Amino acid sequence: MKVQSTTTQQDDHFLISNYDYKSTNIEKNGDKYIAKPQITNFKFKTDTRIPKVGVMLVGWGGNNGTTLTGGILANKFNITWNSRRGTHQPNFYGSLTQSSVIKIGTCNTEEVFVPFKDVLPMVNPCDIVFGGWDISSMNLADAMSRAQVVEYDLQQKLRPYLEKLVPLPSIYYPDFIAANQGDRADNVIPGNNKLEHLNIIRKNIADFKQQNNLDKVILLWTANTERFCVEDPNIHGTAEKLLKSIESSHPEISASTIFACAACLEGCSFINGSPQNTIVPGVIELAEKAGVFVAGDDFKTGQTKFKTCLVEYLVGAGIKPKAIISYNHLGNNDGKNLSQESCFKSKERSKKTCVDDILESNKVLYPTEEELNIDHTIVIKYCPETGDSKKAMDEYIAEIFLGGRQTFAVYNVCEDSLLAAPLIMDLLLLCELFERIQFSKDSSEYQRFDTVLSWLSYLMKAPKSESGITTINSLSRQRAMLENLVKVCAGLTIDDNLRLEVRYG
Ligand code: NAI
Repeated sequence: MKVQSTTTQQDDHFLISNYDYKSTNIEKNGDKYIAKPQITNFKFKTDTRIPKVGVMLVGWGGNNGTTLTGGILANKFNITWNSRRGTHQPNFYGSLTQSSVIKIGTCNTEEVFVPFKDVLPMVNPCDIVFGGWDISSMNLADAMSRAQVVEYDLQQKLRPYLEKLVPLPSIYYPDFIAANQGDRADNVIPGNNKLEHLNIIRKNIADFKQQNNLDKVILLWTANTERFCVEDPNIHGTAEKLLKSIESSHPEISASTIFACAACLEGCSFINGSPQNTIVPGVIELAEKAGVFVAGDDFKTGQTKFKTCLVEYLVGAGIKPKAIISYNHLGNNDGKNLSQESCFKSKERSKKTCVDDILESNKVLYPTEEELNIDHTIVIKYCPETGDSKKAMDEYIAEIFLGGRQTFAVYNVCEDSLLAAPLIMDLLLLCELFERIQFSKDSSEYQRFDTVLSWLSYLMKAPKSESGITTINSLSRQRAMLENLVKVCAGLTIDDNLRLEVRYG
């Protein structure tokens, strides 16, 4: 695809697009709103050179880590496999960047769509070099068998590639994850000195980068859900205080926060795929100083994706959700870990907040704070027989015309890691792309996006935003935000869905 326009320039290294952003400024005058449309000029500059990228996963030997690594290798080497349903080809279904399309315009009256990944130059996932840590020493082939996610025949075909991959020893603070994880912790960096731990992880990152001749490395936490650390401004509030607390091996410094600090200090962006409060203010300051991104929290895979669509549909239709009752039956190691109350609490929090802004937006349905307090209940039960095929059973009760009720009972089988792996890939590819984009507002100096990469909220259950910026949970708005950003950077026109060119030529 090539854009021919006077507002877009391209040379060997950069693509620059000029964009007039139209917004509406609202002023309140008593009980009236005064709307003032305005236009702000932005320039977006994308470095079109594709770097050699390495990814280090924390929890590499888990269900997500093994499924992602094996799935990408299957695609890279075009490995086919057999099951009782026949012969299967590898694909990237479930990946926004690889398997979804974006409308770029119309040809006569026909709408034209291209793959998301073709709008701006992006890294090919098959070129990513993977590495990482796990508290379990199993090589990735054995870990994949333990996970019971991938079909047996594919496991066998991937074995020669995966058995050579062994996670680095990791830091293990048993107080932060469930006690039932202790029996797999045979690959642990010894000692209790958190500063030494930080330095070892930093060295691991530097060595990985150098040994694989990489331009950049991104870190992603896909290890067990930790309990929330007891956040305290004196411990976690600034970069300096955080580093001091690490130096004194403070008990409220979690393993995930050590990894986030190590990433920032080594100039790598960090993504938190679990719900806990890893990205404390001190981490954000470290990332800011290093010029890298942080993003989180908790992958938005099956049930929450569906929930944010359904609630958006109801509220958008003027129907009032009054209760959402969610049951989860999980049989994988994630479920085992979440069976401990402290870890469940982290998950409950991120699952519960995902519809708040959708409800809050509609003051016709929810005129008071009290009415916003709907009955939103989350239950997670560990049922080993369920394996990685998580069962999500949700009841949605909504109030309709004249006091009537509409109830949905939804049964959703989420093959957890098969949904999570392509989503993790998208997080990595988009984070890498955003590291190559700068913008200028009203001819100011070019700058990078804010440190907390809320552009990735489509992929996060409890999206973290820059302070002062409200969080958007609506899936369609999150997707439109990402789609529009890449279109604007490429110099394409954003679609407002009026379709006037089709209706009136
Ligand atoms: P898993 O339990 O199979 O894998 C986690 C891995 O992390 C294990 O191999 C464990 O040994 C390792 N680990 C634990 N503590 C560690 C540490 N300090 N350092 C290094 N490794 C450590 O879990 P799974 O299914 O892969 O999920 C990973 C995370 O992603 C969980 O927190 C889960 O809640 C989160 N998540 C998963 C989703 C999914 O659909 N699979 C969706 C949303 C979030």
